[in-house]
Amino acid sequence: VKDKIEVGLMGLGVVGGGVENALREKAADIAKQVGAPLVMKRILVRDPFKKRACQAQPYLFTTNPQHILNDPEIDIIVEVIGGESPAYDYIKEAISRGKYVVTANKEVIAKHGFELLNLAAEHNVALLYEASAGGGIPLIGPLGHDLLANKISAIHAIINGTTNYILTKMALEDIDFDTALKEARELGYAEADPASDVDGIDATYKLAILAALAFQTQVLPGDVYHEGISHLAARDFRYAKELGYTIKLLAIAKREDDTFQVRVHPTFIPDDLLLARVDGVFNAVQIDGDLSGRILFYGQGAGALPTSSAILADVIHLARNISQGSSPLPRVRMDQTMTVKPISEIRTRYYLRMTVADRPGVLAQIARVLGDFLISISSVIQKEVDESAQSAEIVIMTHPSQERAMQQAVSQMEKLDVVKEISNLIRVED
Ligand code: NAP
Ligand code: HSE
Repeated sequence: VKDKIEVGLMGLGVVGGGVENALREKAADIAKQVGAPLVMKRILVRDPFKKRACQAQPYLFTTNPQHILNDPEIDIIVEVIGGESPAYDYIKEAISRGKYVVTANKEVIAKHGFELLNLAAEHNVALLYEASAGGGIPLIGPLGHDLLANKISAIHAIINGTTNYILTKMALEDIDFDTALKEARELGYAEADPASDVDGIDATYKLAILAALAFQTQVLPGDVYHEGISHLAARDFRYAKELGYTIKLLAIAKREDDTFQVRVHPTFIPDDLLLARVDGVFNAVQIDGDLSGRILFYGQGAGALPTSSAILADVIHLARNISQGSSPLPRVRMDQTMTVKPISEIRTRYYLRMTVADRPGVLAQIARVLGDFLISISSVIQKEVDESAQSAEIVIMTHPSQERAMQQAVSQMEKLDVVKEISNLIRVED
């Protein structure tokens, strides 16, 4: 039983600044909840002389991680540096030295979570990571605890605030990609390297974390098929709307017997789905459980305040355990029998946009190729004609087909003289 809990903060950027601020402003309330005050002992930064928006006391700053890792009085380390290195080494060392760790680092948890959680169990401490997926939305807690009695069959999620902000701006306000990305960066939503958001990598890490908990199996980022949003054009948004769909960067995990599919890619979803109404920095995670039925979690997926809500909940949880001398969380159990279904084997519907020669017989040639690969067309619309180039743009919606067949059909169509360009192929999730 301790009379105060000491905290070491690693990183004082968007999230670290939010955590430091909330810990200071809510100190009295948190002390009541924990039963002992939480004291900020040290803050690791890269540049101690940087001008910062937060009110953190500069005398707490250090550039030497050992000042936190090696301090026997520090009970809990909050890692909000981001990236794999050196954060992974710091977390590992912290756990090995018997410290409790809270992190928002989805890359480290997705790549090394299994190892680190077991290491924490070995050292009789805990590693909590609620903020690593979905910002301020409670997801790790519900999946790791409240939904444990369920067999979860599917997750459909919008779990990257930056890309959802960009897609919303492009679809609803006709703002171009670069302007929308610049805004998302200014608002503190984007990763240090925003390519991680735009290319779907951040969502891949988060999906790996959520799917591992949902299916109670190990899911690594390399298992997740991913595509980013940079190949989407303004006309895709326009056509989606005309067809009754919205385009979202969707993270999908589905259980099929002993296999599961995990994929992140731009997806057409029907306009009337709740997920289609999730705009801006908001995230939403839809989970299908055999007992719970369908559940939808909705909230802000990025930003200093929502993320510090998740981090502080983990800190309070650990601090209570430490102050009351209770034991940490049990070791994770994983089912090792499930395997990942390759993307080539999934079945889904497709939206296909292409530019073709504007002359008789063209559609018949395209339909023949699709038919050869057993792909059935649900609708074809001729969108625009460029008379000077004698070309037309067509949009094809298919019935559910196998991904491998669709990719082969696209390669075959690209070889047709009448096909000038296959402009986009987007999966549809009804
Ligand atoms: P950030 O604004 O770039 O802040 C990173 C902080 O870490 C900075 O204070 C930086 O120091 C420090 N730092 C970086 N490398 C360091 C090193 N090698 N040694 C010591 N300090 C180092 O990042 P962020 O947006 O706060 O994100 C932090 C983590 O939270 C990431 O894992 C991110 O994925 C996750 N996350 C972010 C959000 C969000 O909305 N931003 C939401 C959920 C989760 P200086 O200040 O001196 O440069
Ligand atoms: N860059 C991430 C996002 C931060 O935009 O969702 C939250 O994890």
